[in-house]
Amino acid sequence: MFHPDLFKDKVALVSGGRSGIGYAIAKMMLQLGAKVTIISRKEVPLEKAAGELAAFGAVQYKACDIRQTEQIQAVAQQIKEKHGRLDILVNNAGGQFPALAEMINDKGWNAVINNNLNGTFFMCREMANAFFIPQKGGIIVNIIANIYRGFPGMVHTGAARAGVENMTRTLAVEWSCHNIRLNCIAPGTIESSGLDQYPPPIQEMFGEAKKAIPLGRFGSVEDVANATCFLASPLAAYITGTSLYVDGAQHLNSDVMGLPNVIKSFLNPG
Ligand SMILES: NC(=O)c1ccc[n+]([C@@H]2O[C@H](COP(=O)([O-])OP(=O)(O)OC[C@H]3O[C@@H](n4cnc5c(N)ncnc54)[C@H](OP(=O)(O)O)[C@@H]3O)[C@@H](O)[C@H]2O)c1
Repeated sequence: MFHPDLFKDKVALVSGGRSGIGYAIAKMMLQLGAKVTIISRKEVPLEKAAGELAAFGAVQYKACDIRQTEQIQAVAQQIKEKHGRLDILVNNAGGQFPALAEMINDKGWNAVINNNLNGTFFMCREMANAFFIPQKGGIIVNIIANIYRGFPGMVHTGAARAGVENMTRTLAVEWSCHNIRLNCIAPGTIESSGLDQYPPPIQEMFGEAKKAIPLGRFGSVEDVANATCFLASPLAAYITGTSLYVDGAQHLNSDVMGLPNVIKSFLNPG
């Protein structure tokens, strides 16, 4: 749907690009002409993913934990040596676990905040200093989550993603003088590898949960990749500091009574 040369000569970095949503984003950017680096912590699946993605374009990989500044700097160095520049950063790496708020201990809380909030900030800061500020330009897309009404059952990730959303607004203004655009994508429930990691009772709930999504389906990884490519492209040149929900209107669904359906049955009995 996009022009096949949309990202020709552009260099992109996708965190968590070995799986799920990140893999789909990396694949789509490669198909649109970008040179893409993927990073994640586990080297073996990362190398395998890069091998598969090579069928779509110029891809490289490097093992990196986004919580470790030195490792992020090593990624920047590798990109500098290979391409000499970076145009697009997609902060997609993240993870969380379902838990009642009162049962989350310090370690669990800090782990999610450290990964989903601190890691995303470290990536933004390091890539801005290494590339975007000296280049006088760059684009950042931060993948968050549907936090519109809070995130019951995952308070840690709700807080971390809200932090990323506010950081994105701040940096959109603070770094506008460097011609850096930042936006968030807030995916609803997306059928991806991330969902497989939830325990069976939560997996069983997913079928019922679909009914609460106005568009009547979960999202696909391609839905998120499409929106990410749009925000990373010149088509979004005047969009910065916003959050784009990719969730079939899940975050807006206040129809707890099913009122429209009741009205329909009243108007058309039988
Ligand atoms: N699927 C959904 O419904 C959904 C909805 C809203 C938001 N999200 C968010 O969207 C993102 C992608 O989700 P997904 O479904 O594709 O899940 P996924 O397959 O579990 O992807 C997460 C990726 O992040 C990497 N990662 C995690 N911590 C990292 C760290 N400290 N440093 C570097 N890489 C790290 C993982 O690789 P390693 O394990 O090798 O590090 C993995 O490749 C996640 O942030 C997720 O929370 C997903």
